[in-house]
Amino acid sequence: MHYFDYRLGELYCEEVPIKKIAEEVGTPFYCYSHGTLLRHYNVFDHSFEKVPHIVCFAVKANSNLAVLKLFARQGGGADIVSGGELYRAQKAGIPPGKIVYAGVGKTRQEIISALKAGILMFNVESSQELLTIDSIASEMGVKAPIALRINPNVDPQTHPYVSTGLKENKFGISHTTVLEEYKLAISLKNIDVVGVHKHIGSQITMVSPFVDALEKTIDIVEKLKEGGINIKYIDIGGGLGITYEDEAPPQPNDLAKAIEPLLLKSGCTIIFEPGRVIVGNAGILVATVLYSKKNDDKTFFIVDAAMNDLARPSLYNSYHGIAPVEMEVNAREKIVADIVGPICESGDFLAKDRTLPNYKPGDLMSIMSSGAYGFSMSSNYNSRPRVAEVMVNGDRFDVVRAREKVEDLVNGEVIPEYLE
Ligand code: LLP
Repeated sequence: MHYFDYRLGELYCEEVPIKKIAEEVGTPFYCYSHGTLLRHYNVFDHSFEKVPHIVCFAVKANSNLAVLKLFARQGGGADIVSGGELYRAQKAGIPPGKIVYAGVGKTRQEIISALKAGILMFNVESSQELLTIDSIASEMGVKAPIALRINPNVDPQTHPYVSTGLKENKFGISHTTVLEEYKLAISLKNIDVVGVHKHIGSQITMVSPFVDALEKTIDIVEKLKEGGINIKYIDIGGGLGITYEDEAPPQPNDLAKAIEPLLLKSGCTIIFEPGRVIVGNAGILVATVLYSKKNDDKTFFIVDAAMNDLARPSLYNSYHGIAPVEMEVNAREKIVADIVGPICESGDFLAKDRTLPNYKPGDLMSIMSSGAYGFSMSSNYNSRPRVAEVMVNGDRFDVVRAREKVEDLVNGEVIPEYLE
């Protein structure tokens, strides 16, 4: 459920007409609904209230400071994957004791920063990484809290680019050899073994892969217990899907019902790393139609947003709903068309072969369900300044990231003097 709907023929976010934001901020812009973010966070959190847990929001899904701050105020933590995300999480006031750090390529500098900050745990993805963390912790005279990330070889039945728990994926340590790695971990003087981690993929629309992967994880926790290693935290990752088109993913409480008995039996504190399920449907991308054109039998609506602003359709062929900001547009004749941006690539599309009303230049269009992996994956390709981000709360709206200026595009670039 989200707070984007039509009132008096116009698309609103909460109490604010999208058109009003467009007039003041210009397009394109991302618009996030504070009420929706809050609601999604709380629904998720409350679904697991019987289990001791921490909700560590996956910062990569939406890294805006205002969004992170909102979750921090609800008592949320962060799942990070880089030094940059650590910086953001701390800047948003997320306590380091609620930050977990995954990723196959943590650099020395990133490990130092995380140890200095005093994060909850590193989710370690290889024995070389484990040895590196131990040696850095030793140099710093500290102990590094760690979990090993298990690759349980479970098929999440999602897009191959966002599946992470299959044996052919680069993530984690095989569930068949992880006990050996735990033996190594406990032998290291500057490592404190506190957890087990798994994350099998994203946009998962069934409960069964979560259950299968969790059973394998708990099996490992039990074997560790038999060997005298007591695990404090089980981090079950993120991955719960949302409705973009007609998917019917399990709701957080469906997932809770299916896995709660397993979680409670473990006696551990559970860490969740939801991203998309909290922010995905809490954000839209608003664009203006620039032109339409017809080439032979194909019609294109050309808008001012492009693949650099929202990469998901180009990258994963993913579906985003398209809605006019003014409902009267829906009354126009329907045509099958692609929605494309100004970038010089045929892969630059936001929607393909959709039956749409005949949009005219100047019409505002909303690209729905863009709150997750939207702005956070955007780039400056074709030297396009990144768009503004806006947060609506009730009847007010705030620009929570200013639109970049063309001057920002060359920030840090230097022309060597021999070229002058
Ligand atoms: N934890 C870890 C370790 C992750 O790698 C991810 C996402 C999450 C949690 C959050 O997963 P979520 O709950 O959002 O599914 N760019 C792709 C998605 C990539 C997901 C990467 N990892 C997309 O736009 O669909």
